[in-house]
Amino acid sequence: MAFGWIDEQAELRRRAGLVRTLRPRPADAPLLDLAGNDYLGLAHHPEVVEGAARAARTWGAGSTGSRLVTGTTGLHAELERELAVFCGFEAALVFSSGYTANLAAVTALAPHGTLLVCDAGNHASLIDGCRLARAERQIVGHRDPEAARKALRAHEGPALVVSDTVFSVDGDAAPLGELASVCREFGAGLLVDDAHGLGVLGDGGRGAGHAAGLAGADDVVVTATLSKSLGSQGGVVLGPARVIDHLVNAARTFIFDTGLAPASVGAALAALRLLRREPERAARARRVAAELHARLTAAGHEAVRPDAAVVSVRAPSPEEAVRWAADCRAAQVAVGCFRPPSVPDGISRLRLTARADLSGEQIERAVRVIGETRP
Ligand SMILES: Cc1ncc(COP(=O)(O)O)c(C=O)c1O
Repeated sequence: MAFGWIDEQAELRRRAGLVRTLRPRPADAPLLDLAGNDYLGLAHHPEVVEGAARAARTWGAGSTGSRLVTGTTGLHAELERELAVFCGFEAALVFSSGYTANLAAVTALAPHGTLLVCDAGNHASLIDGCRLARAERQIVGHRDPEAARKALRAHEGPALVVSDTVFSVDGDAAPLGELASVCREFGAGLLVDDAHGLGVLGDGGRGAGHAAGLAGADDVVVTATLSKSLGSQGGVVLGPARVIDHLVNAARTFIFDTGLAPASVGAALAALRLLRREPERAARARRVAAELHARLTAAGHEAVRPDAAVVSVRAPSPEEAVRWAADCRAAQVAVGCFRPPSVPDGISRLRLTARADLSGEQIERAVRVIGETRP
């Protein structure tokens, strides 16, 4: 029977407690949201929503084509200019998602003969980029610059070290300064994904690259998503102008993909301008994360100390993690649930996101519900 193997896989997943289901959310859910990635609370901000609406009215619902044909509007160019200036890079290129931005950057910057050195905890989109690239790959230990050094020492020819800045599961940060030094020892490029750092880390949310003093360096490229702190949708690559020009000419997920919809561009631009005007939002997200972590550990939970806005709480098993998250939801607190295969170390977690707009009372309620529903 066609696709017969699907049923076998579904049964294996069911037995392992790893079945995933979609739960469409109503627009007016009374849930306290600690599951989304809207770190600065901007997805519903009136200026951001109006930015999307105005862009759709002006430029249409879709961008109508590839960026190289009809999919680049004046608004795309404006967003790229402002993102580059804000994050401190020479140039920027906007993509339809953070995922396609990562595929583009890794594949286009690691041609045949290149060594890709990849942190074992990297996001799936970086891993997929490494799989698609025609380069040689080496996976090294998590947050281990010495392992990266060893890999680079053993290779002759171009190399690219690839890492998340803030790891999406545990919210821990990469040692960017040390990674950059190692790269410079061997003339290698450094590519970092700042999906969870933009808007949260660095001066006024300028990101982890900026915080590490790497912004504008000619051997550093940063990718990010517009779908987390900026409350919109889309992705971006930031770096030297010659790298960005190369991506325009060589990155398949740029060339063969329809440009980001104008509404998403307009929303991201409005969010960026808001963040420039209200830079304290970034520090507030970090403070909320620290407070969540302190209260959870005081209540006896095993939680990873957050380096940005992600707080990860250990669960005893995948089944209990799913039940725990469901019980939180039933008590009107939405939390994320990470379990294998999303987490290669086999440890299941609840994943909470600190939002800059959470009140003290909301933080208290979330911690109380997580405690009361603990397996
Ligand atoms: C670290 C990281 N990189 C990239 C992405 C992908 O970004 P996007 O959702 O915009 O495709 C995500 C999550 O979505 C992420 O957590």
